[in-house]
Amino acid sequence: MTTKNYDPAVLGRDRSAPPEPVFSDEQRSVALEIVGKYPNKRSAVLPLLFLVQSIDGYVSEAGMREVAHILELTSAEVLATGSFYTMLKKRPQGDYLVSVCRNISCTHRGSRRVIAALVDHLGIELDETTDDGLFTIEAAECLAICDGAPSMQISYEDFYNVTPESVVELVESLRAGEEVRSVRGETIKKSRAISYEIATAGLRVPGTAGDHQGRTIGGESPRADTAPSFRPKETGDVDG
Ligand code: FES
Repeated sequence: MTTKNYDPAVLGRDRSAPPEPVFSDEQRSVALEIVGKYPNKRSAVLPLLFLVQSIDGYVSEAGMREVAHILELTSAEVLATGSFYTMLKKRPQGDYLVSVCRNISCTHRGSRRVIAALVDHLGIELDETTDDGLFTIEAAECLAICDGAPSMQISYEDFYNVTPESVVELVESLRAGEEVRSVRGETIKKSRAISYEIATAGLRVPGTAGDHQGRTIGGESPRADTAPSFRPKETGDVDG
């Protein structure tokens, strides 16, 4: 993890609000609902950082300061917690985050060629975003879906057995505004929407993740249609 994108000035004991608030009045009331879920308000630091990410597209310096101010922490304490997690981004992201696994199973099954195809087709390097702001591509470590290698995620939803050709088709479908579904059947959403769902998980506030009860993000769902038999036959673990 790196902190080089942040102004060193925020790494001190500063607890003041940023000059320009990140949260609107409505977003601030959602933030306070999140804080209210926890007996110790500092426990809300991660969901509040996801709330910032749902607004700014990453954990901005101003957002970090605002979270620190709300939770009565220093900016350094917020940064120390938030910078540990790869899902909290340190620089602006595209609408869709494409994460291709490059760990051992996926590398053996061709993920380097998949990454090369994305780099070539989108004209960007890893950890860069297309000029139109649509796509950020990154290499991920094991996504825990090795049985579908080479595997990848878009906005944290899984895709198995991807190829250089299929990833190009996927990004072009998203660019065209078409509905794209993951291997679990979930419609691919924009990264900011996913951050908002994570931030507001368990809330009953209208318009928050309370509307998505029972849904999981990037993990196994309890629904019958996502049981192992739903997986592609190529993975070899099909019994139905
Ligand atoms: S090695 Fe790629 S998902 Fe595990």
